[in-house]
Amino acid sequence: MVEIKNLKKIYGERTVLDIPALEFGDGETAALAGANGSGKTTLLKILAGIIKESEGGFHIPGNVLYMPQSSYAFRGDTLRNITISGADKKEALELLEKLELSHLAGKKAKSLSGGELQRLSLCRVLSRKCGLLLLDEPTSACDAKGAELVINAIKDYQRECGCTVIMSTHSPLLAANAADRLIILNGGKVETDGTPGETLANPETQWAKSFVAGWKI
Ligand SMILES: Nc1ncnc2c1ncn2[C@@H]1O[C@H](COP(=O)(O)OP(=O)(O)O)[C@@H](O)[C@H]1O
Ligand SMILES: [Mg+2]
Repeated sequence: MVEIKNLKKIYGERTVLDIPALEFGDGETAALAGANGSGKTTLLKILAGIIKESEGGFHIPGNVLYMPQSSYAFRGDTLRNITISGADKKEALELLEKLELSHLAGKKAKSLSGGELQRLSLCRVLSRKCGLLLLDEPTSACDAKGAELVINAIKDYQRECGCTVIMSTHSPLLAANAADRLIILNGGKVETDGTPGETLANPETQWAKSFVAGWKI
């Protein structure tokens, strides 16, 4: 179980994250939503150990994998961009096939489109096993078909390794299709926390109601 207690991130005078208590069960898939600047990336980066919390703390069982909001490519071809993190060639080719990138295996990764690069970035992460998978807007550069491939790959991976998944998203599709739980952040605080179905149909607070209404457009 991932346990967060009294977690705060403060920049100067500004508290950008303030979470008194939050838990994620083993094997749970949670989506984090909220407007730009609501603290989604900050929370994921703290859990990934990339930035340090200002107050409080958290407990994570096992190892963590993190996919950043901006995708990047290493030098070399697309296949090497996966094997570089330790995967063998067979596993890497299977992942490329799953994300419909097989035809680009021998192409320079730096020449991929934004959506292709994001799917490659996911392949790199999913080539390893973990206890907690953190994904920062994993479908932000994808078209509808690409987003579907990403969602299915995340679901398959979670099923196979049984890890906990926390991902930020601006996509109702991702929240509704891939997550058991949808947490909406507002100004660094948890505004609502429930199932995607309940939250999308009947948000708990007035603020969440107007946020979700804008989301559906
Ligand atoms: N290094 C930093 N210094 C000051 N403020 C920051 C820094 N990093 C992030 N912030 C602020 O923290 C808030 C939350 O940012 P972020 O977690 O990236 O939001 P989100 O991912 O939900 O869009 C934003 O207002 C952002 O400007
Ligand atoms: Mg962000």
